[in-house]
Amino acid sequence: MGIAFESLSSDIAGRCGRLTVGKKTVRTPALLPVINPHLPLVTPKELQAMGIEALITNAYIFSQSKQFRERALSEGLHRLLDFDGVVMTDSGSFQLSVYGQVSITNTETLSFQRDIQSDIWVPLDIPTSPGSDRKTTEEELAVTLQRLSEAKEVFGSDAPIAGPVQGGIFEDLRERAGREVTGLGFSFCPIGAVVPLMESYRYRDLVSVVMAAKRTLSPSACIHLFGAGHPSMFALATAMGCDLFDSAAYALYAKDGRYLTVHGSYRINELADLPCACAVCRSHTAEELRSAPDRERLLALHNLHVTLAEIARIRQAIADGTLWELVDERCRGHPQLL
Ligand code: GUN
Ligand code: ZN
Repeated sequence: MGIAFESLSSDIAGRCGRLTVGKKTVRTPALLPVINPHLPLVTPKELQAMGIEALITNAYIFSQSKQFRERALSEGLHRLLDFDGVVMTDSGSFQLSVYGQVSITNTETLSFQRDIQSDIWVPLDIPTSPGSDRKTTEEELAVTLQRLSEAKEVFGSDAPIAGPVQGGIFEDLRERAGREVTGLGFSFCPIGAVVPLMESYRYRDLVSVVMAAKRTLSPSACIHLFGAGHPSMFALATAMGCDLFDSAAYALYAKDGRYLTVHGSYRINELADLPCACAVCRSHTAEELRSAPDRERLLALHNLHVTLAEIARIRQAIADGTLWELVDERCRGHPQLL
């Protein structure tokens, strides 16, 4: 039990490291692909074969599913998913941010995540919308921190529980959150509620929020950027000290007919050729990819390939001491990012 993180080499605030969860290890920076059990475009087994050491799935979906709940409890997630790497589970906080409520409490979701043998559990934090005023943000942060403290009390200081950092767009609240999460003893700290910032290209706010949290989080904590996203911003996020990304983008973009590149994404209809060396792109023309019956799956495989190649590129840049050059290059892909 327990989560440990070790930084092995660094450039700017980015690092190559090793995350240890129980007996399993994950090389960082790392991408945790999001697995939706209801629409597995790429199976966890295939992900493992692509070198994926950790994935993330949503415990709330399993807890509410007639089809999966009992199986998850009796077999455990690793057997159910057919994946023996690190499985992190999210709590239902995302559903909370979309639907405004969930039918589960903080200790219920954590007990459920424990019972389905998840390797990393996430409490029911509140992802405060960037549009919320200071008073609401402060109140929601207090609830999140109370739940993190409850998690430590009920499950013990060694339980593999993540400590999400909230605080909306207020720098001082993010700093407070980072300080308190560190004080509670969390060594695995996702930075939360940044998805709406990324979706609306508010990169200036994203940077200020991540930097504020990093100022007060322990330098030895493993930092996960919750819900990121598009590979074009991984280099920047790594340079700020983020170690893990989780992404449903490869699958969501595929469903929407979009083809990822490190500079941005294309609609599959816009592509004259496939500017990539992955197995899908080398064995199809743009026209064949558009009309393939398994187009969604092929796009998902390509999108994953691009995303994983970018992580490898970032690791190499850290080893070479050229992360800044890579950030500069990537940020030219979008005017707001620049
Ligand atoms: N997924 C994307 N953002 C968040 C967040 O802030 N909290 C949780 N628990 N999951 C997320
Ligand atoms: Zn490709």
